[in-house]
Amino acid sequence: CGIVAYVGHREAYPIIVKGLKRLEYRGYDSAGIALLNGGLNVYKKKGKVVDLEATLTEEELSSKIGIGHTRWATHGEPNDRNAHPHYSSNKNLAIIHNGIIENYDSLKKELTARGHVFHSDTDSEVFIHFIDDIYQNTKCSLEEAVRLALNKVVGAYAIVIIDENAPNQLIAARKGSPLVLGIGKDEFFLASDATPIIEYTNEVVYLNDYEIATIRDGSLSIRNVEDIPSTPYIQKLEMQLEAIEKGGYEHFMLKEIFEQPRSISDCMRGRLDANRGHLVLGGLREYINKIVNADRILIVACGTSWHAGTVAEYIFEEFTRIPVEVEYASEFRYRNPIIKEGDVVIAISQSGETADTLAAIELAKSKGAIIFGVCNVVGSSIARASHAGSYTHAGPEIGVASTKAFTAQVTVLTMVALLVAHRKGSITEARYHELLTDLEQIPVKVEKALALNKQIEYIADIFKDARNFLYLGRGYNFPVALEGALKLKEISYIHAEGYPAAEMKHGPIALIDEEMPVVFIATHDSSYEKIVSNIQEVKARKGKVIAVVTEGDTLIPKMADFIIEVPATNEAIMPLISVIPLQLLSYHIAVMRGCNVDQPRNLAKSVTVE
Ligand code: G6P
Repeated sequence: CGIVAYVGHREAYPIIVKGLKRLEYRGYDSAGIALLNGGLNVYKKKGKVVDLEATLTEEELSSKIGIGHTRWATHGEPNDRNAHPHYSSNKNLAIIHNGIIENYDSLKKELTARGHVFHSDTDSEVFIHFIDDIYQNTKCSLEEAVRLALNKVVGAYAIVIIDENAPNQLIAARKGSPLVLGIGKDEFFLASDATPIIEYTNEVVYLNDYEIATIRDGSLSIRNVEDIPSTPYIQKLEMQLEAIEKGGYEHFMLKEIFEQPRSISDCMRGRLDANRGHLVLGGLREYINKIVNADRILIVACGTSWHAGTVAEYIFEEFTRIPVEVEYASEFRYRNPIIKEGDVVIAISQSGETADTLAAIELAKSKGAIIFGVCNVVGSSIARASHAGSYTHAGPEIGVASTKAFTAQVTVLTMVALLVAHRKGSITEARYHELLTDLEQIPVKVEKALALNKQIEYIADIFKDARNFLYLGRGYNFPVALEGALKLKEISYIHAEGYPAAEMKHGPIALIDEEMPVVFIATHDSSYEKIVSNIQEVKARKGKVIAVVTEGDTLIPKMADFIIEVPATNEAIMPLISVIPLQLLSYHIAVMRGCNVDQPRNLAKSVTVE
């Protein structure tokens, strides 16, 4: 979910609505706002922020304070009732909440027994009733009631509370869900990330877990749930406003796909200079020897970041000769994994907020592992919970389907692997330098792959009505097959599976007939001959083959129905190029099917629930 709040001298409603639209990547099942416009009024609705906006008239919404929410449903289906904000019993307070309260059921029973009546199925409504119950019964300050309540709730939260009787006050708190506080001149902003804040101020405070921020009469104070005060640590935001706008593209996803030559360069800037044989990652310096000497490396991630981790597994093992295991963070954390003191855990996360990934590293940390974070969002929870790390510097990624974050993750992980291998002596000088040069040329080659856009759009048109797709690759292109399939199912709702090409004969081959498009990622590498045989196996069963091949390939074009030619590079970094046509293919198919590519149904970009 996304939350935004404002208190200051401006009209709150337009600021909150604009902010919520920026945060819709975090959820868009329903939206709502609470304002102090002649009483504490809540306006909420199932659907997108625009649907809510359409029901409101700005003139009636004048208020210098307000809170807003865009929801990704966890408890209770998406409908008007379950939308946030939620009122307390006598409607003097309203809350917006991102996260999950795990003991809400027992709290609800207790409160119901004491006469509380609930109007929604959400844990968040229970939360505000619970706070209000303490507030009414103990006659303490609201801030203190929040603190007492937080000591009793189990779960994750980022909350903001507005009080009808305190028109200059907002109370916010976080544990496990992000919350950024923007400090302007006589005004304050609160949001799940910095994007709603950036155009008003670049001074921000990232709240820490267990902290409660009280903004009252123009000043800010922070204390934790144990009532220990702290001085707010103000940081300067580096983000530019243009980076979070569409810049002439029809969708964020398309903009982000086309940004990749630049985002990959940004990721390497100041770190890599092949001419001088220079490769430095500031965040690795202190820990490189620990990785060099590690017995093994564990990679934890979810979704597309897990695919980047799978590419990294191949790269690390090939060059560093350190055994690597890639784990879904959600599985890893619940299966009593073996973690030894000194193990290196690499956590990969675009948002840096994914709840399972965060919990996985906390677990590994508690067992003595060294955590290396690869995050895109600066100051995010995973970045802060890591011992060391390297940012991907891809810039804000708004489209829910990850594109430029994936290529930036693979770029960073390649640089880490090369540095470790070089230090360890497990790579020859010649190969090291060759790879640095190849990596440096990636942005230009990605640009060439993007120039295939029209041709891919043409192929998309032919296959847009397919009901299933198979994506097959071998070696370094196997994770690319997984990623290609994920992109397609996420945004076009076509069922797609990614498989190692050789595994096809152990099952998926049974699915192949003239109706089945099969995308082969078959660039010229060490398994080329093998994948050529796999293409023949598909053709023999009348499957339709779309093959991503290396420029100049003369063999596969004779067998495939459609070919997409990408520039050659070292096979270890081919995923950075071979994934581009797959991103474009899924994008065009989804657009042609009339799907909302930036905000696909049921998905959220930042999954801060488990
Ligand atoms: C969600 C998003 C995916 C993303 C995954 C992991 O499911 O929809 O695009 O890959 O979370 O997110 P992270 O921010 O940890 O990379």
